[in-house]
Amino acid sequence: MPLIAPSMLSADFGNIQRDVEMINNSVADWFHIDIMDGVFVPNISFGFPVLKAIAKHAKKPLDVHLMIVQPERYIQAFKDAGAHVLSVHYEACTHLHRTVQEIHAAGMMPGVAINPHTNISLLEDIIADIDLVCVMSVNPGFGGQKFIEGTYQKVESLNNLIARKNSRAKIEIDGGVDLQNASNLVKAGADVLVAGNTVFASKDPGATILKLQQS
Ligand code: DX5
Ligand code: ZN
Repeated sequence: MPLIAPSMLSADFGNIQRDVEMINNSVADWFHIDIMDGVFVPNISFGFPVLKAIAKHAKKPLDVHLMIVQPERYIQAFKDAGAHVLSVHYEACTHLHRTVQEIHAAGMMPGVAINPHTNISLLEDIIADIDLVCVMSVNPGFGGQKFIEGTYQKVESLNNLIARKNSRAKIEIDGGVDLQNASNLVKAGADVLVAGNTVFASKDPGATILKLQQS
């Protein structure tokens, strides 16, 4: 059974507590939190005040996905705001190894996110040090985009790399996950499914989360 991490990017920010409680009361495992800076990606989402508002009511771990340049500047701040898993983009980090060690030292689970064009082989020398690989199955920046089919191949390569390096890393799929592709992703080896639009645009979000989990 995959872990399900609904993406709060698609929540109703005027009713954030209601949507947090919906996830608390569902079978979801994590809250996926997308932080965008308008520089690394062509969109700005939200920052610390909103994250803290979510953290105040959330009863499940916060899986924070940083789509920002120089994420190393904010590691302690995200810890203080309540992050449990903290993922930085491979493409945004010159000193990725140092940043991963700092996330770990701050008491969080380090993750590395990769854009659709980034090859799995580039994770060869970091995979043993991280708890999560966030495989972007859309170009980051927006919710509700179309799933990129080449993702299956990436999950397979990543599975091989994780086995070969004896890594504990979980494979997370982020972008365009729906009730059609979820089971194939799990078959391919995905451990965590992020879903924004699929959950929040559905009539019964709690039931949709359950269906994703049963994929
Ligand atoms: C995209 C974000 C995703 C996004 C997923 O840049 O990283 O987490 O919220 O949304 P859906 O599931 O709607 O594609
Ligand atoms: Zn994300």
